[in-house]
Amino acid sequence: MKDQVSIQELQEQVSNQQSYKKWWKECVVYQIYPRSFKDSNGDGIGDFSGILAKLDYIASVGANVLCLCSIFDSPNDNIGYDIRDYRTIHPDFGTLEDFEALVETARKKGLKIILDLPINHTSTRHVWFQAAQQNPNSPYRNYYHWKRGENGKPPNNWQSFFVGNAWTKLDGSDDYYLHLFSKTQVDLNWENPQVRQEIYRIMRFWLDKGIAGFRLDGVSFISKNLDLPNHLIDNRHLATYYANGPQVHQYLQEMHQELLKEYDVMMVGEGLGIDLKNAPKYVSDERKELQMVYPFDLLEIDRPKNDFYGVRMWNLLEFKHIVNKWNRLSEHNAWNAIMLGNHDFPRMLSRFGDEGTHRQASAKMLATFLLTQWGTPFLYQGDEIGMSNIRFNSVDDYKDVWVKNAYEKLKKYNVTESAFLKAVYTNGRDNARTPFQWSDEANAGFSDKESWMSVNANYEYINVKDEQKDANSILNYYKKAVRLRKVNPTFVYGDYVDIDPYHETVFAYKRKLGDDSVLVVLNFSRKPTLYVLEVPYRFYYRSLLLCNYTDREEEKGPELSLRPYEARVYRLL
Ligand code: GLC
Ligand code: CA
Repeated sequence: MKDQVSIQELQEQVSNQQSYKKWWKECVVYQIYPRSFKDSNGDGIGDFSGILAKLDYIASVGANVLCLCSIFDSPNDNIGYDIRDYRTIHPDFGTLEDFEALVETARKKGLKIILDLPINHTSTRHVWFQAAQQNPNSPYRNYYHWKRGENGKPPNNWQSFFVGNAWTKLDGSDDYYLHLFSKTQVDLNWENPQVRQEIYRIMRFWLDKGIAGFRLDGVSFISKNLDLPNHLIDNRHLATYYANGPQVHQYLQEMHQELLKEYDVMMVGEGLGIDLKNAPKYVSDERKELQMVYPFDLLEIDRPKNDFYGVRMWNLLEFKHIVNKWNRLSEHNAWNAIMLGNHDFPRMLSRFGDEGTHRQASAKMLATFLLTQWGTPFLYQGDEIGMSNIRFNSVDDYKDVWVKNAYEKLKKYNVTESAFLKAVYTNGRDNARTPFQWSDEANAGFSDKESWMSVNANYEYINVKDEQKDANSILNYYKKAVRLRKVNPTFVYGDYVDIDPYHETVFAYKRKLGDDSVLVVLNFSRKPTLYVLEVPYRFYYRSLLLCNYTDREEEKGPELSLRPYEARVYRLL
């Protein structure tokens, strides 16, 4: 690459600002859904030995932090997010020793591991809840939220995110327990200091095994408005009512004081309802809470509020507005995460790109976006080979509790299975949970036996083995884009400016660090577009650092003839 000297200088400039420089700003995260990553023992379920066998693959992509979706013991009503025991590994994945071996081997390969920890709720099968349920006088009763029903009705009108009431009555009593998610995921009472201490002890247990941080699942919901007021039935997001409760920041600061200040960790807050107005409180450096949160308004851009079935039209202006808004976190001495998908959303390619004719170009364009933006990039397993949404023929083939609950409810309104399936095809979470596609062999090389969820039939032409052989594959493009970010601190620490926020189909932005400026131009549409650089950008000499079309001839003037989903990254000289 050109300009090695100036890159070295930049690296020095950055390393002089020690307090600003952090490993979790420079890393690239690879999120794994362990159940669907790689099965090593033929039971059809992904496991730790499978991950272990594929560490070199992950390292070859260039990611250096693995974020594992919940690995804890669970009855799997909401697959791993209803935890029965926080200190036991789900037997499907392996043992504690297997986990320790994974952490150690990963460390030797330069990979850190962070764990997804659901702290807002436990399973109804957790010993705490079992005790609470059996005996109203048990000290564990106060680990959860209880309330008497009124005239045979639930205590208030709160609805759960997964369809139906957020209160469930205990058999043989008038007492209801609160669950913002499925009815087997009981909300913990964080107001109780003992609950908080239990969670800190659990976190310490895992930190002392050498992990590098947590994804704090549902953190926006841990503090409740204990008056439990009825809320308006309107079309605002349910999270408007449940998120960012009165004590949440006090709890997070306590977590830092009692635990996290002893470790150099990356804490990623997950949960609906965090937006730019309240995000600085979670992530401003001086507040000592978290390092980054999820940009849910970006992830939910195509989703109507509280509606599983509909689709919301979105456009690039809105998309850019959201991204630009989040990037203003930098004004608050804060950092953030950038992502376009995970195990809770349909595939990034299917939503923001094109699964058909422009599959290759659009997947690479989205990769360019993730790896040149401000914030720590989160890649989700399979996006790096362009995996796309699944279409099963029957509701029975789906595993997600959200799909099942929604279908049960809709059947009562005479919604047909085929109409319902259409919604699942665009919105369902299982789109992103089908087994990873390693090769064109049986079961996509994921397992020797039938896998726990059917593989996507497109594994015959979308798989790692083929892409490794093809120099122009999506996979090999990811490797280039990750490398570009890693060797150029401008992509990590550089200022960010959207140079053309009102363009309807092109996203063009500049990153600048010291004397180094890079320009990213992304055609977010299938339309070929003549994009004209305005003053002052038209006056720079440019050198092309990355482009997703290989036969691109160098264009010198201010006019860029962008092909469908074309992405270009320039250094401005
Ligand atoms: C988070 C998880 C999701 C889970 C939910 C409830 O949003 O990412 O998978 O269903 O929390 O636990
Ligand atoms: Ca297995």
